[in-house]
Amino acid sequence: MKDETRAIHAGRDPKANHGIVNPPVYHASTVLYPTYEALRNPPSRVQYGRRGTPTTFALEDAVMALEGGAGCALVPSGLAAVTTALLALLSSGDHLLMTDSAYGPTRTFCDTFLKRMGVETTYYDPVIGEGIKTLMTNRTKVVFVESPGSLTFEVQDIPAIAKAAHAMGAKVVLDNTWASPLFFKPFEHGCDVSIQAATKYIVGHADTMMGTITANEDTWPLIHAAHGQLGQCAAPDDIYLALRGLRTISVRLNQHMQQGIELATWLGERDEISHVFHPALPSHPGHDIWKRDFLGASGLFSVVLKPVEEHALAAMLDGLNLFGMGYSWGGFESLVIPANPRHNRTATTWDIPGRLLRFHAGLEHMDDLKADLELAFERLKAAS
Ligand SMILES: Cc1ncc(COP(=O)(O)O)c(C=O)c1O
Repeated sequence: MKDETRAIHAGRDPKANHGIVNPPVYHASTVLYPTYEALRNPPSRVQYGRRGTPTTFALEDAVMALEGGAGCALVPSGLAAVTTALLALLSSGDHLLMTDSAYGPTRTFCDTFLKRMGVETTYYDPVIGEGIKTLMTNRTKVVFVESPGSLTFEVQDIPAIAKAAHAMGAKVVLDNTWASPLFFKPFEHGCDVSIQAATKYIVGHADTMMGTITANEDTWPLIHAAHGQLGQCAAPDDIYLALRGLRTISVRLNQHMQQGIELATWLGERDEISHVFHPALPSHPGHDIWKRDFLGASGLFSVVLKPVEEHALAAMLDGLNLFGMGYSWGGFESLVIPANPRHNRTATTWDIPGRLLRFHAGLEHMDDLKADLELAFERLKAAS
């Protein structure tokens, strides 16, 4: 079965539900057991609200059908998926290798909470590839990858990193949010755990926070145990919205991909822009690895604006009509956010002059998006 079909049918059983197309939203804490024997040996997976209801299992099954893995756990945000996975696999005294291009709050978790727990983090150059083996020690328990990297879009050689990690007995944890479960298959490329900020493309409508953690057979018991011990669970209405978003992920993602490529190409031809970072463009440094390992590109990419005064940047961004300015991405709408990767690096340096702008290509008509940006560039020029 192809992913387009899986996204429509996985985790759904209308026959078991009066023929109704979508699964019901179970609001539950207590689950009643009919007998003492059933209480002692529960006959069903449905045992207590926190441990999941048929609504929870429907989304878990649907995500697994697309992303793979032997188990899937839901958590209330993408960041909770990152932290829960790391807490599941790391103990005091362990060593973690973290990509230098990781999502900022992932980094903060390593530098604060994990440090306090006695876990040492070493940041590595995202394009290190098999060279990661030079950083591995016998205390290294996890190599964390995020490909492409947040803001800067370095594409990582995950199979090479996984080979080196596994040779030393370490697990590979991937933040797979950019590609979504459609465009990168983590378990076919050597990952042990994959997290999704489902808040982005799975939900797809900018109205719900959600995280998923999928894991291979060896690693799933550790994830499942930590998820339970930490008391993690996701809210039923949010799960429903994530499931509803997932049904259309294939058409949305393919459209985001086309829009993103067109917008990035158009921006790259403008005089105001010095660099474009989009893995699907042949000019991107990691394009060959992207082509080898990925099945598509989402709508998120960055450009660098040639150096301008702060007030000119403000004039450019303030008048935007269609591009919203705000955190998160993956919804139907176009977004832009200025960022400075310089502040988030220790293993590598970011010395490209000018401000980085991260774009999310939404589903609006391309002519309207370009017209909005044409006016923005005119305001930039007038204010410079
Ligand atoms: C790559 C990546 N991972 C994780 C997250 C965290 O997701 P959430 O906002 O759902 O906690 C984000 C959010 O922007 C992200 O961009």
